[in-house]
Amino acid sequence: MPDAPLIAERLEQVRDRTLGLIAPLDEEWVARTPDPIMSPPAWDLAHIAAYEELWLVTRLSDAQPMHPDLQATYDAFETPRAVRGEIRILDGRESREFMLAVRARALEVLGAADLSDDGPALTAGGFVWDMVAQHEAQHDETLLQTLQLMPPGAYSPCIGALPAGGDVVQGPDPIHVDGGPMMMGAATGRGALDCEMPAHPMVVAPFRIDRNPVTIGRHLEFIADGGYEDPRFWSPEGWTWRQQSGAIAPLHWQPDGAGGWTRTWFGCTEAVDPSEILCHVSFFEAEAHARWAGGRLPTEAEWEFAARRDPARADDAWAPWGDDLHDGRANLGQTSFRPARAGAFPEGASPLGCAHMVGDVWEWTSTIFDGYPGFRAFPYREYAEPFFRDGYRVLRGGSWATQAVAARTTFRNWDHPERRQIFSGMRLAWDAR
Ligand code: AVJ
Ligand code: FE
Repeated sequence: MPDAPLIAERLEQVRDRTLGLIAPLDEEWVARTPDPIMSPPAWDLAHIAAYEELWLVTRLSDAQPMHPDLQATYDAFETPRAVRGEIRILDGRESREFMLAVRARALEVLGAADLSDDGPALTAGGFVWDMVAQHEAQHDETLLQTLQLMPPGAYSPCIGALPAGGDVVQGPDPIHVDGGPMMMGAATGRGALDCEMPAHPMVVAPFRIDRNPVTIGRHLEFIADGGYEDPRFWSPEGWTWRQQSGAIAPLHWQPDGAGGWTRTWFGCTEAVDPSEILCHVSFFEAEAHARWAGGRLPTEAEWEFAARRDPARADDAWAPWGDDLHDGRANLGQTSFRPARAGAFPEGASPLGCAHMVGDVWEWTSTIFDGYPGFRAFPYREYAEPFFRDGYRVLRGGSWATQAVAARTTFRNWDHPERRQIFSGMRLAWDAR
């Protein structure tokens, strides 16, 4: 059972990141969005506060909300992203004040809370505080997508260092996996969110999966081979998207005028690095690249098997390297501002030998998002259930823009197949020979 100081420290760690992320943002852009598919940063900030107030203050005490008139504004369903740039929202300073005031009240409630493992499900083992910390970390990742879409000058962050990694383009390096039985999904009591549960038995057929995610160098070969112009590599829906979007390269890339490519991220334009892990492709692009490479995308079950199945253990681990914190074994934490080069985190490999399973880029799977057998929404319906069986594809593993609290081998992310402002890449799989 976690104690109150430990829970408070986890909440503070995420809050430090949130405030650190937005500190270099030009004040003029705090309440403006660069793209209608995103929210103004100030909306995310006040939404973080409203969510925390709901779950850690009003649900756990008799206290009333501080801004009852703004409840609908900060409810993600009642006020979708497309209108958040048009309505009255708290400005940057008001949003930060709201965050601070809610946190003070939440810590007061926490001080008196029942944290015992056999208490009510909402608070048992500190679940609801963990959920709120993960929610804020998820919105920090969303904020990074918004910040990345801003024009040069609006946002110039401090960029953290990464281990060097290899300077060769990693080609496909298929690992044969025998498959077999596993428990898919998370056991209760470990901070997993509803759609990761219940853990359920699954038998995975033999398959092959790449040691590393696809690198920029391999995708440059796909481009040079006419991959974006050849409908044979694309699904019919994918080809329609290709035609309508006019995409000829990943998002944020531009031709350099000499036959190569540059990318503009966070106000900085640089030549693409062939050894770096590919990011900012849609599901459709990932699918086309996989077909060009003679493979396919892994299913969600194959991905989870490759990430955590440990033949030496009865139960499968939380992270590819076991149950410990990530401590430098993965590119997580929102400070590197880019994926690593393939091979940079050998200590993070899974028991079956797959590297970079957690961190760097979210990996598209071929699976349509749905509930696991026996799914029960908890503690509210809107987190995942409205998105089941609605064409959303599952992404796994977390990216450089994910924090460790919200990254694990069971975590399920989902998005529309055309989205690519998210930190999304891919890993190849093949049928077993
Ligand atoms: C799990 C990333 C798809 O951003 O829509 C944030 C996370 N849910 N607030 C999203 C979430 C509620 C969610 N994703
Ligand atoms: Fe949210």
